[in-house]
Order: sequence, then C-alpha cells, then structure tokens
Amino acid sequence: MSIWKTKPLSVLLGEASESEKGLKRTLSSRSLVALGVGAIIGAGLFSLTGIAAADHAGPAVTISFILAAIGCAFAGLCYAEFASMIPVAGSAYTYSYATMGEFMAWIIGWDLVLEYALGAATVGVSWSRYLLELLAKFNIHLPPQLICSPWETLTLSNGTVIEGGIINLPAIFIVSLLSLLLIKGTKESASLNNFLVVLKVAVVIIFIVLGWKFIDPTNYVPYIPENTGVFGKFGWSGIAAGAGTVFFAFIGFDAVSTAAQEAKNPQKGMPIGILGSLVICTILYVLFSHVMTGLVPYYKFAGDAKPAATAFAVTGYDFLQTGLIIAILAGYTSVILVMLMGQSRVFYTMSKDGLLPPFFSEVHAKFRTPWKTNLFFLVFVSLFAGLVPVSDLGHMVSIGTLLAFVLVCIGVMVMRHKMPDAPRAFRTPLVPFVPVAGILICLALMYALPNESWARLVIWMALGIIIYFVYGKKNSKLNNPEK
Ligand code: ALA
Repeated sequence: MSIWKTKPLSVLLGEASESEKGLKRTLSSRSLVALGVGAIIGAGLFSLTGIAAADHAGPAVTISFILAAIGCAFAGLCYAEFASMIPVAGSAYTYSYATMGEFMAWIIGWDLVLEYALGAATVGVSWSRYLLELLAKFNIHLPPQLICSPWETLTLSNGTVIEGGIINLPAIFIVSLLSLLLIKGTKESASLNNFLVVLKVAVVIIFIVLGWKFIDPTNYVPYIPENTGVFGKFGWSGIAAGAGTVFFAFIGFDAVSTAAQEAKNPQKGMPIGILGSLVICTILYVLFSHVMTGLVPYYKFAGDAKPAATAFAVTGYDFLQTGLIIAILAGYTSVILVMLMGQSRVFYTMSKDGLLPPFFSEVHAKFRTPWKTNLFFLVFVSLFAGLVPVSDLGHMVSIGTLLAFVLVCIGVMVMRHKMPDAPRAFRTPLVPFVPVAGILICLALMYALPNESWARLVIWMALGIIIYFVYGKKNSKLNNPEK
C-alpha cells in the first residue's frame, strides 16, 4: 500500500465512459465557455478593480490585469492539456491522481475546497453588499445584526456603521438557493447560467461603450503614478501588487474542467472552454478598467466597494444605475453557481475513489446529481458566508487557488515525463517553459499574500493530512482493491 500510487489513465478513462450510469453529458462547447465566463466575471471585477487602482497601480491597473492574465494563461494551458487528456469530473484532483499519486491528489482535492467552497462564500458576501445597496434604493432596510458577520465592520450607504453583527443572512440565502438549484440538475443550472452570463457580459459592454464617450484623458496622466517609496505603492511594483489583487477576478476558469464528465465532447470542449473564457474575460477586464479609471481619477476609488457604480455615475445615466446593480447581482449569482457545482463534483469524484465516505457520491435517483454533497456544502459554505469577514475569505481563496495552479503546472511536466505517448487532444505549448513560468508567477503572487493566509493554509492542509491518514488511506479503492 503506497500513498504515492497513481491511478492508471486507462482506469480513469474507463470510469468516464461508464458515466452513463452517473452524471449526464449535456454541456456543449458554448456552454463550457459560458460556464467559464460565468465563474470568472464577478466580485473581482466589480469590487477589486477600484481598490487595485487606488492603492497600487493607478490607471495602469490595466497592465495589472494583463499580468495576472498571463499568469493564469500559463496555468490555463496546463489545465487544458490535462482536461483534454483526462476528461473526468474532479479537475486538478483527478489529474494529480494520475500523475503524482494518491496523497498529492488528496492534498489538491482538499485544497480545492478553499477555491470553490470559500470562493462561493466570498462572492456570496459581496452579493449581499450589492443587495443592501439595491434595497436601500427602495427604502428597504434589513436589521443590521442580520446582514454582517460578527468580526466585520460594515458601513452602509446611509453612513450607518455596523461594528460586527450576528450573521450575514442574505449571503446564506443566496448560497442555499443556488445549492438547491444545483440539486435539481446540471442542465437547468447551465440554462440559467447561460442567461446570467449574457446579462453579465452585456453590463460590462454597456459600461464600456457608454462610458467611453465620457473618458477624461487627463485622468490618465500620469498613466503609471510614481512609486511612493513603498514597495507595491504605484510604479512597477504597484502594478505587480495590483496584479496580486485582481488575480481574484480570474479565478474560476479552471472550474470548467470540473464539468468534464458532463461535456458532450470533452476533448475539444475543455481547451475551448478554459482558454476561450480566459481570453474573453481578459479583453473585457482591460477595457472595463481603462474606462473606469478614465471616468474618475483613480485615487477617488480608495475604500470604495462599488467602484463600477461610482464611475458610472459620471455618465449621468442615472436610470441605468439600478439596472447595473441588478445585473451585477445576477452576475455574482452565476459565479456562486459554478463554484458550488465545481465543489460538489470534486467531492463526488473523491468519494467515488474511496477517499471520502460514499455519502458524497450518492447520485439522486431522479435528478442524477450528487445531491447529498450539494446539501453538505449548502451548510458548510453558508457557515463561512454568514460568519467570516470577506477579506479573510478572499485571501484564503487566492492562496488555495494559487497552490492548485502550481500543482497542476508541476503535474503537466510529470505527465510528459511518465506518459510521453499517451494521446492528448490538446498539448500545452513550450513545455517546460510554460509550466515553469506558471509556477514562478503563482508562487510570486502567493508570496504577496498576508501571513495570516499562509497560517490558515497550513492549518487547513494539516487537517486534510490527518483526515487522509485516518480515513482516506484505509478506504481508498486504489490502495484497497478488495474493498
Ligand atoms: N473570479 C471570480 C470573481 O471575480 C471569483 O468573483
């Protein structure tokens, strides 16, 4: 029995073809791109762009977006090779099972909880902030104690400051609603997702087109504000720090790979879904941030959680403000949906492998979705969304995701070495340059994250290692074929 034993590719592919009995293949390449865009555009763009501009990069936040996109593209190219080669639910977890062995697979699967489950919680909290803004427009005010975590200070638009509430109920509401929708079915969820993505992209395009005419070129002077003498405060180091902040805005493209088993033609659809969504979002982000910093001087976005609304106010299209908030709320919904779906599929696969109890892979007789996992994460994600401050959540999501990216980049090189001749519908170009560059950029971004996030990452991973040795190792189907 070895914790480094790898799962043979033939076994993985055999399991995928057996999927008639399990998950349904309903997603076209277009749906996969929509799934990616649905997971990508969200709180990162609508909340963090202003902060990155005001605190780090100035108008050159556009360059920060390009830098972060380059890092993600390297990782995305590695994801695409794996996803086209091993089109099985479970994403990075499954790839490491085939390349680096069971223990590393467990580590990465456990780590993905930080990305998907806590990612859903983070965006859920941000969703609740925009909801409050919308309700305030109609003069509806929820009880302050029920809209804020106990460890967070929240300033409402009327100036009221809440120094810690009891629980964030709107965040729990949206997470629960979408978890229940996922139980009902992937097809239904994908149709809703397609609609939400169209709406979200429309908002971004409307913002760019309407805003463009109102750009004041003097706001771009200087384009790269001079460094203040502190690392990360403007100048080129500021652009790099800005890239670390807006990295969150790109998280999600890899969620496409978790749906490989539900893709109609995964060999073709996976690379298109992953790289296509990344390219579309990068173009939109650069244009969006260009317009935003052209409308309002960058320093005015300091501490602004709704910079898109602030910038849009300059255009004078007041009647569109409410519509903008509604569309942003809808856009956040699709991010949460894809994150929750990715999470349940990873646990489904880990449970199928025996590393988690069978509870997590029970498929609903009628809906054919892993409904018990969805219910479990309804509770788990709700607890985090209801109780943990948004910045703590966001940093944990970033550090967890970056670690997963590093492991996937390593995995591609291991796979090329161990199985050079296995068929790959998509090959990562320029190996080892692309994976090594991906690893270096991701490690640099991890380095820039606060020390607390590192401490939490270590605690979370230590907990995972204990669970593996207490449960997973003894119950793994690969290591215990007699079970
Ligand atoms: N990329 C996602 C967002 O910006 C997580 O909300």
